[in-house]
Amino acid sequence: MRSFEAFSVPFVQFGAGTSSKAGKIISSFCKPRATILLITDQNILASGMLERIVEGIHEEGFDLEILDSIPAEPTDNDLDLLAGKVRETNPSAMIAVGGGSVIDATKVLSTLAIHQCSTMELADRGVPGRGIPCVMIPTTAGTGAEATPNAIVLFPSRNLKIGIVSRYLIPQFVILDPELTLGLPASLTASTGIDAICHLLECYIGKKANAFSDMYALEGLRLMMTSLQVAYHEGSNLEARSKAMLGAYYGGVCITASGTNAIHALSYPLGGIYRIPHGIANAILLVPVMKYQKEFIASRLAMVADAIGSGIKGDVRARANELIESLRSLVKEMGIPATLKPFGISTSALDTLADAAYGVRRLLDNNPVDLSKDAIKAIYREVL
Ligand SMILES: [Fe+2]
Repeated sequence: MRSFEAFSVPFVQFGAGTSSKAGKIISSFCKPRATILLITDQNILASGMLERIVEGIHEEGFDLEILDSIPAEPTDNDLDLLAGKVRETNPSAMIAVGGGSVIDATKVLSTLAIHQCSTMELADRGVPGRGIPCVMIPTTAGTGAEATPNAIVLFPSRNLKIGIVSRYLIPQFVILDPELTLGLPASLTASTGIDAICHLLECYIGKKANAFSDMYALEGLRLMMTSLQVAYHEGSNLEARSKAMLGAYYGGVCITASGTNAIHALSYPLGGIYRIPHGIANAILLVPVMKYQKEFIASRLAMVADAIGSGIKGDVRARANELIESLRSLVKEMGIPATLKPFGISTSALDTLADAAYGVRRLLDNNPVDLSKDAIKAIYREVL
């Protein structure tokens, strides 16, 4: 068996309505009247989603401060400025309520609040230690950020998004409350859900895949593939939302123990250079990347087909093909374009895209097949 390293969130609360328990969870390690800082963005604040959480915190007798100015793509500079506000508040605990950006920003801010350094220094020198204890409450079922030791930050001075990675960034408390995703628009349900499917699938076929990540990947894919379509069409279907939320969390667990590869590597330049949303870029690349390497990973793809209960019979190749077809029709049904045409990317961009993707070594080195620059170009050409 392949050796592996796994570390995970020590406490996870899952279930409809459980975000009301955030205050109770904090009372297990904070004294009454302590100051709690809730980190979120303005859309979430306006949505009314926070009411139940805020009520639970007041019931436990805590003082609550809210910081709602997390931008959609926080830069290192944004975070350094916000860290000043966090230090002024001097909270005993923090709560993040939001998507991947809010959760990642909270990982960084909770660290900067204790350790006197900048975000750039965290990226360059590593994370010196644990930050303020945090409760992470995701409001999308996609990034899995609540389960990972990564914080993705935009560094404009380097024209790059960099993942700050440290086991000190693994959240200590996570609440998965699927009710928070009931109002998520269909387009966001689709793009975040496909992102989660990519995490699970890439971690399952990757070179670092192992017995621990496989277990979460197969169950996560079963949860996602049997729920995403329903959640897309019936946003208020709690059962589908619950499965998607847990599946996306499992995707984060998989990233921690295994890792993403070619889809994410080719997706990064599309986000970085052309600002194509992460989940959309992944969705466009998902089928072409799997098709390109299917001969090498057919048995793994067939096992996914079996695990999701597709009921497909036949040999390994037939089951692998059928899985790729079901992914293709899922992406299509959810209205995500199959090519980059709507984004105005032409063949003249091929060299730049391939050079940038080829440079994402951390991910490509985990791909089951070595991809040359020409191979990467061939995949991009498929989606032009
Ligand atoms: Fe992703």
